[in-house]
Amino acid sequence: SEDRELCTCSGLTQIHGADARDYPTFLGLVSDNGSVSPGLDFQRMLRINQTLYISARDYIYSFDLGRSPQDVLTPRSKVQWRTKASDMQNCAMRGKHRDECHNFIRVLVPRDDRTLLACGTNAFNPICRNYKMESLLQEGEEVNGQARCPFDTRQTNIALFADGNLYSATMADFLASDAVIYRSLGPDPVLRTVKYDSKWLKEPHFVHVIEYGHFVYFFFREIAIEYTFLGKVSAG
Ligand SMILES: *[C@@H]1O[C@H](CO)[C@@H](O)[C@H](O)[C@H]1NC(C)=O
Ligand SMILES: *[C@@H]1O[C@H](CO)[C@@H](O)[C@H](O)[C@H]1NC(C)=O
Repeated sequence: SEDRELCTCSGLTQIHGADARDYPTFLGLVSDNGSVSPGLDFQRMLRINQTLYISARDYIYSFDLGRSPQDVLTPRSKVQWRTKASDMQNCAMRGKHRDECHNFIRVLVPRDDRTLLACGTNAFNPICRNYKMESLLQEGEEVNGQARCPFDTRQTNIALFADGNLYSATMADFLASDAVIYRSLGPDPVLRTVKYDSKWLKEPHFVHVIEYGHFVYFFFREIAIEYTFLGKVSAG
């Protein structure tokens, strides 16, 4: 119809409002008795060929995009990854609200042709795992998620594998004061930006990361000190 609002954002077409009803939806898991679970809490999406991966709160889903469209998108497979009760208690004791003490899966990146790296906030105690792309079965051991995944799901983060190394950028502490760009998990030595140095990073909002030529480029927004300075100069 004429009043249909369409916007093409990063190659995807978004449909707003009631028109969305015409398209297949996925709102999270529905339990056997038909009642809807507490929502999806969408965190990340990743498309690899004909498979769409979505990470959410406590879950990772994969969808087969090759199937003909239906009213409801049904995951091909799903994996539940919840925070242990002890970590949830710890989180609550540190003054966080119960709703925040979950595993928000904020990193979902291909590691190689068969493996995904996923990292979750895990109730303010971030951890990472490898999952097989094909089956979403866990592979290997968990590793610490610090500097790879934020503690708080409201903080921004980006991550990418290049030459076998993980390049990540996020807030690396509970108080979200330690902004970091970090290289790890690969053949090259672990490397991080200078700690608490506002000349490097000052309250950054991480947006995107790409590999280009011999470089990995990080895109982020932050408060522009130069702007204030220039403003003063021009006013004088
Ligand atoms: C449906 O199942 C969920 C969990 O499986 C439960 O919390 C809820 O109370 C059930 N609702 C009804 C109407 O039985
Ligand atoms: C995706 O498709 C490309 C081209 O067909 C192929 O080279 C690549 O291995 C595929 N990736 C995965 C993860 O299947």
